Amino acid sequence: MSEEHIIVSRDGAVLEIRFNRPDKKNAITNAMYGVIADAVAAAQTDDSVRAVLFTANGDFFSAGNDIKDFAAQSAGAFDGPRHVGRFLEEVIKAEKPIVAAVQGHAVGVGTTMLFQFDLVYIAETARLTVPFIDLGVVPENASSLTVVDRLGHARAFAMFGLNEPLTGKDAAAWGLANAALPFGEVEPKARAAAQVLASKPPQSMRLTKKLMRDREALMARMQEEGEIFAERLRSPEAAAAFAAFLTKR
Ligand code: COA
Repeated sequence: MSEEHIIVSRDGAVLEIRFNRPDKKNAITNAMYGVIADAVAAAQTDDSVRAVLFTANGDFFSAGNDIKDFAAQSAGAFDGPRHVGRFLEEVIKAEKPIVAAVQGHAVGVGTTMLFQFDLVYIAETARLTVPFIDLGVVPENASSLTVVDRLGHARAFAMFGLNEPLTGKDAAAWGLANAALPFGEVEPKARAAAQVLASKPPQSMRLTKKLMRDREALMARMQEEGEIFAERLRSPEAAAAFAAFLTKR
């Protein structure tokens, strides 16, 4: 497992998961998904953990799924278990609150995971994109549901269809993020919020989160999207998009 690309640490009752692959804009490899899936799962069964914080090093929160992994999957050249589905499921099933400190840009799953979290603090200058159509695939992580729910169809379609970025400012104004802040204030604010969540009665917190989220609907949509996504990964449109990205390097 590529532990050096994901730093898991503790700050009191808050479990912190940090993307640490800044030279690749925190693109997430299969091994990284394995580590974050395990961390989110372990947090649910460890009574000493009461909240989870996602954060990142570098100028990107995450550039999404590693395109080399996508290209290998597209070509049928990917061996071993795939951990992405497990990560997405663990987040949907999670009973403990999840906070994000989005200090920089996010792409693909780096954006869609934010729509699954409970509190999001974002840099004013951050830009969030979901270029699934440009990559020849379809939305994942139940984002065809969550993005529409939060932003409305027109804004969601501009993101998916036109690849229009959602700015940090608009993310806060339109209901994704709790606040858009100057870069240096994002992580301290998210940390402080996670600590407040962790100080509250844990069972009441857990039950409230459960009541607020329709997990069955999220899981069903995530699985429906996942089947189409897997087919699309093998499509000529996707293969061409991955090759274009990789040959530009
Ligand atoms: N997968 C694999 N590598 C990635 C990556 C990804 N998703 N995103 C960035 N990288 C790598 C680049 O290949 C480059 O590696 P290199 O230095 O070895 O060439 C490095 O990260 C820096 O990226 P670069 O493109 O030079 O930075 P940039 O600031 O010009 O652009 C992005 C950043 C994120 C806009 C651009 O890299 C990009 O479009 N990445 C793909 C994002 C994507 O489509 N993700 C999947 C969503 S489903």
